[in-house]
Order: sequence, then structure tokens, then C-alpha cells
Amino acid sequence: MTDDVLVVHGGSPLEGRIRVRGAKNLVSKAMVAALLGDTPSRLFDVPRIRDVEVVRGLLGLHGVKVTDGDEDGELVFDPANVESASTDQINVHAGSSRIPILFCGPLLHRLGHAFIPDLGGCHIGPRPIDFHLQALREFGATVDKRPEGLHLSAPNGLHGTKFALPYPSVGATEQVLLTAVMAEGVTELRNAAVEPEIIDLICILQKMGAIIKVHTDRVIEIQGVPKLHGYTHRPIPDRIEAASWAAAALATRGHVEVLGAQQADMMTFLNIFRSVGGEYEVTDARPPKLGDPGQEGGIRFWHPGGELKSVALETDVHPGFMTDWQQPLVVALTQARGLSIVHETVYEQRLGYTEALNTMGANIQVYRDCLGGTPCRFGRRNFKHSAVIAGPSKLHAADLVIPDLRAGFSHLIAALAAEGTSRVYGVDLINRGYEDFEAKLADLGAHVERP
Ligand code: EPU
Repeated sequence: MTDDVLVVHGGSPLEGRIRVRGAKNLVSKAMVAALLGDTPSRLFDVPRIRDVEVVRGLLGLHGVKVTDGDEDGELVFDPANVESASTDQINVHAGSSRIPILFCGPLLHRLGHAFIPDLGGCHIGPRPIDFHLQALREFGATVDKRPEGLHLSAPNGLHGTKFALPYPSVGATEQVLLTAVMAEGVTELRNAAVEPEIIDLICILQKMGAIIKVHTDRVIEIQGVPKLHGYTHRPIPDRIEAASWAAAALATRGHVEVLGAQQADMMTFLNIFRSVGGEYEVTDARPPKLGDPGQEGGIRFWHPGGELKSVALETDVHPGFMTDWQQPLVVALTQARGLSIVHETVYEQRLGYTEALNTMGANIQVYRDCLGGTPCRFGRRNFKHSAVIAGPSKLHAADLVIPDLRAGFSHLIAALAAEGTSRVYGVDLINRGYEDFEAKLADLGAHVERP
């Protein structure tokens, strides 16, 4: 056990207001995109989280000067002197994040070669990078896998291609976008991911001078251009963090207003939240005018009292229910009457955390079968990827060890909802994706302390 532990005195509702900033799963990619410009880029609302530090470090190693802007959360990237870094320097970041794989295209364009360290990220399945490498080879890159990492080069430059993803992977779609924008000729990507974070990345690339068409049926067409310039961008807010706090409000019978949360990006979550019996109210932003300070938009989430209702849900690619919303919400589902069913179709091993909830009194069974309406890729492959949650269960305090980011947040919610004092080990992992979560817990009246 480490001393990285939070003591949580649970059993009281979370109440208050917090704010979410730029989406973790966009901001880090926007930072990589800055490498492609020949003038500085400016990104606002950047949260202080571990992934941002890793990408900042890698950009710095490659000669991109990263400085803090005037506004809190503003970063400025100056790519005037992009240069190679040694494998030893880059390997300092080995195992720390998945974002380094997205440096391939930009570094190949800027330097003609790239070295990518071993990737990190949450252990929620094997998480291969075969689609990424296959796409890069289609563009004309050579990929040499060595024990210390991946060495890539593009001796004949990168050329547009027609490519269909076997599955609409978020990362592989970003890989193709970041490579195709400056590849010679036209790229057509089929079966692309179209998550709001991807559309926001496309907006950034368009601001930089790229020509990208998003067609219906997951087809994205990119016309390569010889050069791109810097961008100024305010990213979409973090809809995973917003949903996590919403789930915490529901599980603790509380009331949390999430400033910055945007209805359009959370529609599927909001439908499930309402079906479970949670209530919410959307506040639209109002710009300041003379005599009116304006109003920041957001969503207020609360437990209206009484019992929650069970639901059946399936995680899926956008516009489906996000896999990252699943773990926080399941804690609230332990409080719903009846049997809830969760079919995880994006990652094969994202239900392991339910064991810890069971030690706290939850009644969750996991199955290898597809318990959703449609069979998924994992159905006949021996993965426990469906869960049946019987409720309501009274949760009691326990000692918990955080296994990964989203499961970690669900452990935290469970500890907050449970009667008694829990010790949650490994909480620093939560800093990878939730900015200032301890300060936010304090703002919401949670009784937590570092021993
Ligand atoms: N996949 C492959 N081969 C590949 C790439 C993906 O088989 O080359 C599979 C994966 O193993 C997985 C599925 O495709 O089963 C989807 O993976 P995807 O590539 O879409 O995920 P990712 O880009 O690695 C991002 C987010 C995840 C989020 C997923 C799905 C970032 C940094 N991470 O991961 O976020 O769950 O998309 O929306 O953007 C998190 O924030 O906690 C997190 C895990």
C-alpha cells in the first residue's frame, strides 16, 4: 500500500457547484496538432492534468516552446524550432500516456522521422495500436518496432490514401487526421470515429488551414495541404468529467451544478440519467451585456429523493453511451431498484472494478455473454464484458485500491456514497484526468482528508 491515499468519510450528499475545463481527450491532441503549424498556436481552458504535462514535456523535447498565456489555463506553443530528440530523452515518458502515438504523423512531416516510446494509459483491455500502424504504412511510412520503442521514417514522403478502419477507433481516426492534413493528395477514411472531441480536432485543423470534409456514414475526406499555420482555440468542455460529477450527485443523493457542461455533447448520458430517475436542468450561457454580467452555461444534476430505477444500457462509439461514463454511473445503479444491465462493447476488460463495489455491499455479476440488444466484438471471445447490477444495495465503507482512471473515480464515488470511513489508495491516478478533484470535492462539501 502506498501513502497516496485519501480518507473518505462517506454517507453525505455532494452539494455545490464545480466547473469543468477543456476535454482531456481533446486538449492533449490539440497540443500535438500545434507541431504541424509554422506559427504559434494558442489553446485556452487547458486543465492541469497529468496527460497535459506529458505532452508538454514531449513537445518541449522536440523544440516546441510551450509557455503559459495571460489567461489561467492558456498555453502558447511556438513550433519555430522543431528538432529531433534522443530516444533516451523521449523514453523518460515511456509508459505514461497513450498520446505519444499521435506524434507519428506530425513528426514525420516536420522531421522525416519519429521515435515513439512505449505507451501508457489505463489497463482496460489489450489496447493494440495495429490500426494506427496500418494507417501510417498506407501513407508511406516505414515502421520499425524495436525493444526501446517504435522508429518511423518516411523516405518518400507521406501520400494520401483510402483507408477503412476495422472499428471506429478514436485514436486511429486522430492519427489519420494528423497525418493526412499535410500528406500529398487526398485521403479518404471510412468507418471513422466521429466523437465530439474528433470534430473539435477537425475544427482546430481547419483553423490551421486544413481542408477536411466530414461526410455522412463515418466517412472523412482530407485534402492534403503543403503547409499549416498556428491556431487559437477554446476546446469543448470535458463531457466525461461532467458526467462523472453527475453520477456522484446521483449516487450520494446530492445536487451538483457542473458549470461548462454542454447538453449537445451529453445527450445520450442525459437520457440515461433521466431514465434512472435523476433530474437535471440545463442553463444556457448568456454573454455579458451593458448592465448584465452574463451567465456561464452548465447543467445542474440532482437526486430528487425516493428510489432510483434500473436501466439497461450498452456502451458504444458516438453517438452511443460513452464507455468512460459507464464506471461512474454503475455506482449510482447499485442504488436503483431492480436489475440494471450494462453491456460494455468498447473495451473488453472494463468491468473489473465491480469486484471492489461488491466488497462494499453491491450485488454485481459479470458475464461473458453479450447481454445487450446487439452482439458485440467480444461476445465469443471469453471476456467478461456484461454486468448485471441488482439493487438497491446499502454500500458500506472499505479499503479500496484504484486500478485505473475512470474506475478510480467510481471507487471514489462509492466511498462517498457509503456509510463510514473508507481509505482509497492510489488516488493520484485520478489526477491524470480530473483537474483539482480534491479541491472540487471540498467545494461540494465532501468529508475527505489526506492522512
Ligand atoms: N483498437 C484496436 N486497434 C487500434 C486502436 C484501437 O483494436 O489500433 C480498439 C481498442 O482496443 C478498443 C477500441 O478499438 O477496444 C476503441 O479504442 P479507441 O482507439 O477508440 O480508444 P483510444 O483512442 O485509445 C480514446 C480515449 C479513451 C476512450 C476511448 C473511446 C484518449 C486519450 N483516450 O482512447 O479515454 O475511452 O477513446 O472513446 O482520447 C479515458 O479518458 O479514461 C479513456 C480511456
